[in-house]
Amino acid sequence: MKRIGIIGAMEEEVAALKKMLTDVETREIASMEFAQGKLGNKSVVVVRCGIGKVNAAICTQILALHYKVDVVINTGVAGSLRNDINIADIVLSQDTLQHDVDATGFGYDLGVIPRMEQSIFPGDMDLIEKAKKICKEKLPSVGVHVGRIVSGDQFISDSSKKEWLVENFNGYCTEMEGAAIAQAAYLNKIPFLIIRAISDKADQSAEMDYSEFENLAIERSVILLTGLIDTI
Ligand code: ADE
Repeated sequence: MKRIGIIGAMEEEVAALKKMLTDVETREIASMEFAQGKLGNKSVVVVRCGIGKVNAAICTQILALHYKVDVVINTGVAGSLRNDINIADIVLSQDTLQHDVDATGFGYDLGVIPRMEQSIFPGDMDLIEKAKKICKEKLPSVGVHVGRIVSGDQFISDSSKKEWLVENFNGYCTEMEGAAIAQAAYLNKIPFLIIRAISDKADQSAEMDYSEFENLAIERSVILLTGLIDTI
C-alpha cells in the first residue's frame, strides 16, 4: 500500500486532518510533529513543517527517509502573480522553482542551482489530473489553475518585486516552501504535488480579511485533500 506524506501549512488544517486519522502514532523529529495513521483505508503521515525552504526541505527528507512515503502533497497559501488568479482560487503545481537562487555572478541564469541537472521541478501529472477532477466535482465554484509556483524565503508584498518575479519566472503564484519540497522530493525520486490557495495579490493590497479567508481555505483544502487521498 502506498504511503502518502501530507505537509500542511496551517495549524488548523493539519489539526483537522489529524482528527480524521485512525491508528495514529505521533512522533517528534527535528521539532516537527509527524502523525502517522490511516485516512479511510490509506496510509498517511501528516505534518506541519513551519515556514520557509529549510524547514520544508528538512520535513520532506524526513518523510522520505524515515516514513518512506511514496507521494508528497503540500498544501498552503500563496500570493497571486496573475490578474486572472483571484483570492481563494487554487493553484496546482505544473512545476516549481526557487526565485531566490541567484548564481548569475557565476555564469548561471537566475533561479538555476549550480551543478544540479534540474532547477525546475515538475509536479506529478497524474496527481495534477486527479486534483483537477476532484476540484471540478467537489469545489465547482472555485477557480483552479495549473501553473508555475515560485518559492523563496521572502514574503512578497511589493509591486516592483512582484513584477520582477513575473518578468523573470512567469509564475502563477509565490510562496515560501513549495520548490524546496519539490527539490527534496525530486532528489528522493518521489512524485509530488503542491496545492496552494491564494490569500493575497503579493502586493500592498489586502483584499480579504485573512481570518475569514483562512477558514475558507482550510475547508476547501480538507475537501480536496481527502478526495485526492482517496484516489491515490
Ligand atoms: N504566502 C502567502 N502569500 C505570500 C506572499 N505574498 N509571498 C510569499 N509567501 C506567501
